[in-house]
Amino acid sequence: MKSVDFFEQQFREQVARGDFTLNPFEEAVLPHLSGGVLDLGCGLGNLAIAAAKQGFAVSALDGSRTAVDRVNQAANRLGLPLAAYQIDLSTYAIDGDYDSIVAIGLLMFFPRERAHVLLADIVSHVKPGGIAAINVLTEGTTFVGALEAGNHYLFGENELADAFKGWEILLSRHDEIPAPENTVKKFHTILARRLA
Ligand SMILES: C[S@@+](CC[C@H](N)C(=O)[O-])C[C@H]1O[C@@H](n2cnc3c(N)ncnc32)[C@H](O)[C@@H]1O
Repeated sequence: MKSVDFFEQQFREQVARGDFTLNPFEEAVLPHLSGGVLDLGCGLGNLAIAAAKQGFAVSALDGSRTAVDRVNQAANRLGLPLAAYQIDLSTYAIDGDYDSIVAIGLLMFFPRERAHVLLADIVSHVKPGGIAAINVLTEGTTFVGALEAGNHYLFGENELADAFKGWEILLSRHDEIPAPENTVKKFHTILARRLA
């Protein structure tokens, strides 16, 4: 998995530096989390750890060994209700219903069909009254980075919104962030509540 190899290296460097800052998408999502939380593609687990510190029971999944080890070490040290598992999310099916399901910066690392299968899986496993928080790269992104040729998908600008028809949209935000070598990353973040 090129996407995981890319982050594995980045995470090793971040762990060595002690760089565990919440990114702006995680910061936007954190106040809306509650109950049982599933964090898909949790990375270094900054959001998962912050949620567990608030008392929420968190399952955090990622393909990176370094990330999963860091999350579990922090959880054990701090006595948090949080467990991380190393899982290949390109074939994973969600195994239960959750109050909050998060996938920040994950779905673009799969081909379109798989990205939509996992998105539908997320939508169908949020409990009534619960929330889903999804962040993806969109069309117009020119940064290649961890995106593997033929094995990624840039979402249409408003494609995520279609998955949440009939939900209350709490946040829908487009961000454009400069990236190395005069490239750009374009993101869509959506935070939606399933009606109770
Ligand atoms: C852009 S990072 C986002 C991490 C975290 N959600 C955040 O906001 O900082 C993408 C994450 O997806 C994980 N990932 C990518 N492809 C994966 C796969 N096939 N299976 C499991 N994890 C994967 C990477 O290891 C990385 O942690």
